[in-house]
Amino acid sequence: MCGIVGYIGGRTAYPILIKGLQRLEYRGYDSAGIALVNNTNVNTYKCRGKVKDLEKLIGTQDISGSIGIGHTRWATHGAPNDTNAHPHVSMNGKFVVVHNGIIENYTFIKNRLVEKGYTFKSQTDTEVLANFIEDIYLTSKCSAEEAVRSALLRIIGAYGLAIICTDEPDKLFGTRKGSPLVLGIGNGEHFLASDATPIVEYTDKMIYLNDEELVIATANEIRLTNIHESGDKQINVTKVDLSIDNIDKGNFPHYMLKEIHEQPLTIADTLRGRLLPDAHEIHLGGIADVMPRLMQAQRIIIIACGTSYYAGMVGEYLIEEYARVSVEVEYASEFRYRNPIITPNDVIIAISQSGETADTLAAIRMAKERGALILGVCNVVGSSIARETDAGIYTHAGPEIGVASTKAFTAQAVVMTLLALQLGRKKGVLSEERYKSFIDDLVNVPAAINRILADEDKIREIAEKYRSASNSIYLGRGLLYPVALEGALKLKEISYIHAEGYPAAEMKHGPIALIDNLMPVFVLATKDRYYEKVVNNIQEVKARQGQVIAVVTAGDTVIRKMADYVIEIPHTEDPFIPLLAVVPLQLFSYYVAVMRGCNVDQPRNLAKSVTVE
Ligand code: G6P
Repeated sequence: MCGIVGYIGGRTAYPILIKGLQRLEYRGYDSAGIALVNNTNVNTYKCRGKVKDLEKLIGTQDISGSIGIGHTRWATHGAPNDTNAHPHVSMNGKFVVVHNGIIENYTFIKNRLVEKGYTFKSQTDTEVLANFIEDIYLTSKCSAEEAVRSALLRIIGAYGLAIICTDEPDKLFGTRKGSPLVLGIGNGEHFLASDATPIVEYTDKMIYLNDEELVIATANEIRLTNIHESGDKQINVTKVDLSIDNIDKGNFPHYMLKEIHEQPLTIADTLRGRLLPDAHEIHLGGIADVMPRLMQAQRIIIIACGTSYYAGMVGEYLIEEYARVSVEVEYASEFRYRNPIITPNDVIIAISQSGETADTLAAIRMAKERGALILGVCNVVGSSIARETDAGIYTHAGPEIGVASTKAFTAQAVVMTLLALQLGRKKGVLSEERYKSFIDDLVNVPAAINRILADEDKIREIAEKYRSASNSIYLGRGLLYPVALEGALKLKEISYIHAEGYPAAEMKHGPIALIDNLMPVFVLATKDRYYEKVVNNIQEVKARQGQVIAVVTAGDTVIRKMADYVIEIPHTEDPFIPLLAVVPLQLFSYYVAVMRGCNVDQPRNLAKSVTVE
C-alpha cells in the first residue's frame, strides 16, 4: 500500500512524478503529495484526495526542480487529510521523506524526540522518522547517508523510503525493508518507484532492491550499500520486459473492463510454452528442478489472501481430484500466527498477484524456517515473494491495475490447473488418455471466453435489473464454490452491495432465511457432476420467491424454465469450468458498480498491494 516515486536527473521532475503517481494510484489513493528540489529550495505540495486533486492544488505554483519525490497514500497512522499526506519534512527542514510501510516503534522514538524539543504537525509515523533522521544528523554532525543508516538500524517495522536531504540536494536516497522499491537507470537520470510501472516509459534497466539495501543516486551515479555498512555492494541490473501499452487503459473506460476483456489473451500467455498441445504435454520449467520433491510431498499447503485465496481453493479441489495429494488452503494472515504444523515433507505454494502481500510473505518465511519447500505463483516478476520462494510459476497475466482482481485470478487458476494435471499424470493418477483430452480442451479456453464476452450486452441488462439490490447470494458446488466466493467478493468490493458466497447445499443451513423476492441469487449450475443437485437448490430458492440468475452450460433447457435469467457459457471439461464461469460474474459486478456511480478501478478503502499486515 502507498506508492512512492523519486526522480533525479536533467529534466523537470514534476511531470515524471505526477505521471508516476498516477500509475501507482492502485496502491492507495486517499491522499497524494510531492516535494520538488530546486538548488536548496524545496517546494512541498500535498493534499487529501487523488493525484488529480494534487494537480489542481499545484495549479500554477512553482514546479521547477529536477529532483523530487512523491507519494500516494493508503492511510495507516493518522486520518487521510492534508497534514498527514506525504512527503513529510523534518522540523528544521533538513530531510524530506516519503514512506510506504509502518514504523512500529514510532511512539517510543517520538517521545524521545519530544523530550528533545521536537514538535510534530501530523499523526504519522513517517514524520517521526524524518525527525529522527534529522536529529541524528544534527547531533552527530554526520553525513546524510550515515544519519539515514543509523536511523534505519534503530527502527522496527516495514518501509520503502525515498529521502532527500536539503544540505545534499544532488542525492536521492532509496531503501526498503518489507515494502518494494525499484531503481530505474536512465541516461544521466535515475528513478525510484514502488514498482516498475512509473519507470518503464524512460528505461528498461532496473535494480530491484533487496531488504535493508540502501541506494544513493545522483544524476549520473549510483551506489548500492546496505543499512549495516557503507561498503559498496555489487549491482545486479535487470532488463524489464514491460510495455507501456500494458499499463494504459487503451479504449476502455476502466482498467477493470480492459482486464476482463484481456483474459483470452492473458490465459494464452499463461499457457504459452507450458501447454504443448502437439506433444500433448505440460511443461512447467520454473518448478522442473523441484519436481522430485513435489512428487514426494505428503501434503501441499496453499497460502494466499483475497482473490488469490480463491484461486488457491480451485487448486485444492483440482490437485486432490486429479493428483490425489492432500491439500490445505490457508489465509496467510491466519497461518502465520497460529503456529501451524509444517514438516520438511510439506510443500507450500504461495499465490500472490503482486508478490508483495505482507501476510503471505511473512507466512512463507515462517514455513521456510521449518524446512518446507516453498513455491510461488506470482504475477509480478521480480517481486519479493517471487524472489524468496525456492521455485515458482509466473502467471504472466501482465500488469493488473484495477484494484479488483480479474485476469490475475484466471491466470492463477490456469497455473493451478496445469500443476494439478501435470502432477496427476506424473503420479499415474490421471490416465494418459484423460490427460490428453484435457490438454486438447484447455487449448480452447481462450476462445470460449471470447464467446462469453460477446454476450456482454445481456449481462449488462441483468446488471441494470439488479443495480439497486442491497444484498445478494452466490451459490456453487465443487469447483464452482470458490467461483461463487470470488463472484461475491467482486460485487462487494466494487459496488458495495453486500454479497455472500456459499456452497449451494449449505444454503439451507442459514442463508435461505434471507431469501425473498428482492434477493438476487446467482447459481452456478453448469453440467457437471453436481448438476442435478444444484437444480434442486434452484427450486428451493424459487419456492421462496428469490430471483435466480443462473450460469449454465450452453444449450441447457431445464434451468431456463426455472431461472429468472440464464447466462450461458460454452461446454468445457470439468477442471476448466471455473475459468469460464467467473467471467460473467466479473462483468456483472463491473456493470452494477458503474451504474451505481462507484469508482470501479479504485474502490473505497481498498488497495491493490497490501504491504501492511
Ligand atoms: C488485495 C487486493 C486483492 C488481492 C489481495 C491479495 O486485497 O485488493 O485484489 O486479491 O490483496 O493480493 P495478492 O497480490 O497477494 O494476490
